[in-house]
Amino acid sequence: MSNETQSCTVKFASGQNIPLELHKVRVVQKLFLHPIERRLKAMRDAGFNTFQLSTTDVFLDMLTDSGTNAMSDNQISAMLRADDAYAGSQSFARMHAAVKEVFGTEYVLPVHQGRAAENIISQAFIKKGDVIPMNYHFTTTKAHMEINGGRLFEIYTDEALKIKSDCPFKGNIDTNKLRALIKEYSPARIPFIRLEASTNLIGGQPFSIENMREVRRIADEHGIMVVLDASLIGENAYFVKQREAEFKNTSIKDILLVMCGLSDLIYFSSRKVSSTRGGAICTNRKDLYLKVRDLVVLFEGFVTYGGMSVREIEALAVGMYETTDETVISQSPSFIAHLATKLDQRGIPVILPPGALGCHIDCMGFLPHVPQAQYPAGALAAALFIVSGVRGMERGTISSVRDDKGNDVLADVELLRLAFPRRVFTLSQTEYVLDRVTWLHQNRSLVGGLKFVDEPAVLRFFMGRLDAVSDWPEKLMAKFRADFGDSL
Ligand code: F0G
Repeated sequence: MSNETQSCTVKFASGQNIPLELHKVRVVQKLFLHPIERRLKAMRDAGFNTFQLSTTDVFLDMLTDSGTNAMSDNQISAMLRADDAYAGSQSFARMHAAVKEVFGTEYVLPVHQGRAAENIISQAFIKKGDVIPMNYHFTTTKAHMEINGGRLFEIYTDEALKIKSDCPFKGNIDTNKLRALIKEYSPARIPFIRLEASTNLIGGQPFSIENMREVRRIADEHGIMVVLDASLIGENAYFVKQREAEFKNTSIKDILLVMCGLSDLIYFSSRKVSSTRGGAICTNRKDLYLKVRDLVVLFEGFVTYGGMSVREIEALAVGMYETTDETVISQSPSFIAHLATKLDQRGIPVILPPGALGCHIDCMGFLPHVPQAQYPAGALAAALFIVSGVRGMERGTISSVRDDKGNDVLADVELLRLAFPRRVFTLSQTEYVLDRVTWLHQNRSLVGGLKFVDEPAVLRFFMGRLDAVSDWPEKLMAKFRADFGDSL
């Protein structure tokens, strides 16, 4: 078998650059596209929350790439040789060797998933009144840091929240803001600076190594730790190779080592990075390792499995090596770029430049008539499911919180994320999404807002239930039937 790695986009004779599947599909799962009447009923039964849908009602599941990336033949076969042992498993030895080679870290602690790492890191390093600067938060990160008494500061650049930008690195930290923050709060109150690779909530946007080096310099000047959320590190490395001149001819493997070498502590959700399930905390610093190790034993399990199944640990090890393969990590960004570029050409507002994880639709631009208090991103997620069976994820005010007075903290951006788990969807499925989003845009005036009817206090977007503010879903369905006749 060849070890060559290639990017997934090729030039067709027409002159167009088209993403090409550089893999063959050998195991398949049957999908159903149900009639719109069933989709509307399913959406109502789910409380207008796409997290509450059953996959039996979903056609294309673009909710997330978390735990849903396609695994390789080599990953599946590795799972069969798993060494079940409470302690000292050889599966862990292989995981340790893989993480050490790919991230360059001596110490590796498995955990059951990314937020378990966040729990442990937050408990180990954050105390009440601490301040944590970062490029941008992730939902579970924020929840864990705040529960431990920390306060988050998002110190992104002016470009970060612009929907349409040509800035290649919208995930960069504004280093002037970082210096000002350290001056204001003093290094003693800053346990670490957090950098998130391919910044999830602002549209999968990468940071540059130039920026990371500057953050490292500032951290060193003040004796502050740098923590890297590496859940989407492969894609960030791919964008560095594509967009940062210095690394044009550097291998992904070497770029990963540079990024990890600039961090004191690295953690990740392996539901993303290695196309498995699980997660880990890694470091080269023994003092940091010892500080988190005992919490892993307390909350996760023994240090050679950390709440993961040994089968997943084997697959993770193989997946780590595959993260250095450009063919693997360019697949999702290539399809995202294809969809985002075509939507943009049709005048539909999407986050540009295209990033990692998914294509992100700007819902305030798409549904300008729906006020933010009526959750335009949640409304668009519901409407798209009704007209297509495509399940996306709301990443806007529903994913935010309420303030002390009970008012919604309005999100900076209202996004509908259409995730592209790696090597799961084909180009014709992508064209279907393009078609139905375009139709919905032409009929956007029919889409109305949502209101909460049942709202959990913590991470409300997962389990909350909402309702439409009017009968707009029925009107949308009637227009669909008028335009598409009997077709699904
Ligand atoms: N950090 C980032 C950047 C993430 O994207 C996620 C999860 C986590 C941490 C938490 O990891 O789910 O394994 O506990 N993101 C998923 C998503 C849920 O859909 O974007 P986890």
